[in-house]
Amino acid sequence: MEEKKSVIFAVAGKGGVGKTSIAATLVRLLAEEYPDKRILAIDADPAVGLSTALGIEVETTVDDIRKAVVATAESGDTKNAVELLGEARYRIFDALVETDGFSFIAIGRPEAAGCYCRINSYLKEVISILSENFDYVVIDGEAGIEQINRRVMEKVTHLLLITDSSKKGTQVIKTIRQVADELVMYDQMGVIANRLPSMKVKEFMDTGDIPVLAYIPSDASLAEFDLKGENVFYLPEDAEIVQGVKEALGKLEL
Ligand SMILES: Nc1ncnc2c1ncn2[C@@H]1O[C@H](COP(=O)(O)OP(=O)(O)O)[C@@H](O)[C@H]1O
Ligand SMILES: [Mg+2]
Repeated sequence: MEEKKSVIFAVAGKGGVGKTSIAATLVRLLAEEYPDKRILAIDADPAVGLSTALGIEVETTVDDIRKAVVATAESGDTKNAVELLGEARYRIFDALVETDGFSFIAIGRPEAAGCYCRINSYLKEVISILSENFDYVVIDGEAGIEQINRRVMEKVTHLLLITDSSKKGTQVIKTIRQVADELVMYDQMGVIANRLPSMKVKEFMDTGDIPVLAYIPSDASLAEFDLKGENVFYLPEDAEIVQGVKEALGKLEL
């Protein structure tokens, strides 16, 4: 029997448009819809946040493991490069948090400024290794275009471009689209317009020729949720963001 290819979603867009909230909601919906499938959530944003949105406690991150492996190499341990690589691959699984319905992994927040490019190349490997073990993967990406540019998102099959109604937001997704057309082997791409002050702004939003999968209004109950630090599993089924992400999911071929 032929193994079905993993579905790898990633959210991308400007900062603050709702990427993390939408990624977390997507994980919740997939977990509800496919209780028998293997689902993985990856927090790939150094600004972190997906764990909180999903109600997960993180102990070890991918960056912690990378550092430990680098330290072994620098301590003059006689292991050769191939052994170290094997160890790094194996130890990635130590950073996985398993919960009811889905697994989670965080890339971490490297403390030294400017060193995120190193973790980005590691991250690309992590996505590739882990996706083989899961049916659905949801990646909460860093704001902006860097991870697309560095080919971290190369294997993403479903690219969700998130924007608010600002010109800046739609410009960012158009730029991401251009770069992704060259550097991401995606099957489908679509826009989720989020935090709309009113549904009237729909007509004025220019997303070019990228299909819009859903328009989600600004939802005051989310602010209250944030305040209490509650996770998306507590959002009511009829919350705007839950309905919106469900609508978007329904428009994608999985
Ligand atoms: N539809 C919405 N209505 C109201 N607030 C929202 C909506 N979507 C997201 N938010 C809020 O906007 C803020 C930024 O969202 P977040 O998901 O962290 O964005 P990003 O990951 O793109 O930076 C959060 O406080 C979140 O609760
Ligand atoms: Mg975020």
